[in-house]
Amino acid sequence: MKKITIAIDGYSSCGKSTMAKDLAREIGYVYVDSGAMYRTVTLYALDNHIIQDGHIDEERLKQEMKNIEISFQFNPERGRPDTYLNGTRVEDRIRTLEVSNHVSPIAALGFVREEMVRQQQRMGQQGGIIMDGRDIGTTVFPNAELKIFVTASAEIRAQRRFDELTAKGEQCDMQEILRNVEERDYIDTHRDISPLRQADDALVLDNSHLTIEEQKQWLIRAYEHAIHNS
Ligand code: DC
Repeated sequence: MKKITIAIDGYSSCGKSTMAKDLAREIGYVYVDSGAMYRTVTLYALDNHIIQDGHIDEERLKQEMKNIEISFQFNPERGRPDTYLNGTRVEDRIRTLEVSNHVSPIAALGFVREEMVRQQQRMGQQGGIIMDGRDIGTTVFPNAELKIFVTASAEIRAQRRFDELTAKGEQCDMQEILRNVEERDYIDTHRDISPLRQADDALVLDNSHLTIEEQKQWLIRAYEHAIHNS
């Protein structure tokens, strides 16, 4: 069967990666979490004191981009790829609130985006890929056969992130998380380069009140429709 490219974009914490991962497993596609790549650059910048007191040393980061090698390795236990930075697994470290709090300004830097988009396009050369992010349907794969734009209310997304972090044993405050979600929405939609926006030909999925199962059925139908039409 023909292998298409599937682009899933949308706001933070609306379950994009879970749905993309599940769909990839169902249809035997490779799943790439592009947000993990921006998070990994952020982790590198924090670890190497390129971000200090909220200030980014852009010149240093630009020079160090060549030292940041990001890769993914499928983890059968989790049923999805783990993220590696220079050969070390960083999957858990890139999901902390500290990284979440610093990632948007890093993802707004032109030279960071250029490098990530280049790597993402290389990963998608063969088709048979599902990538989720903010600019996948608009910039990374503008010719993707299936584009989905996912959305849910900020409160529901904050609650989901709170549950996720609490389950991992991380101490967190609901108001702080809601602030973080709203702040990231603002930065993601207002940055100069590749702001988050719905591609003209994307299907919109508002999952505020959908169960996982309902969402799964919706996705499979969208996929079958796209395959039929491509
Ligand atoms: O999806 P996420 O929350 O893991 O994404 C982390 C950050 O990276 C978020 O602030 C938006 C940014 N991002 C982006 O700018 N472009 C992408 N393709 C994916 C994520």
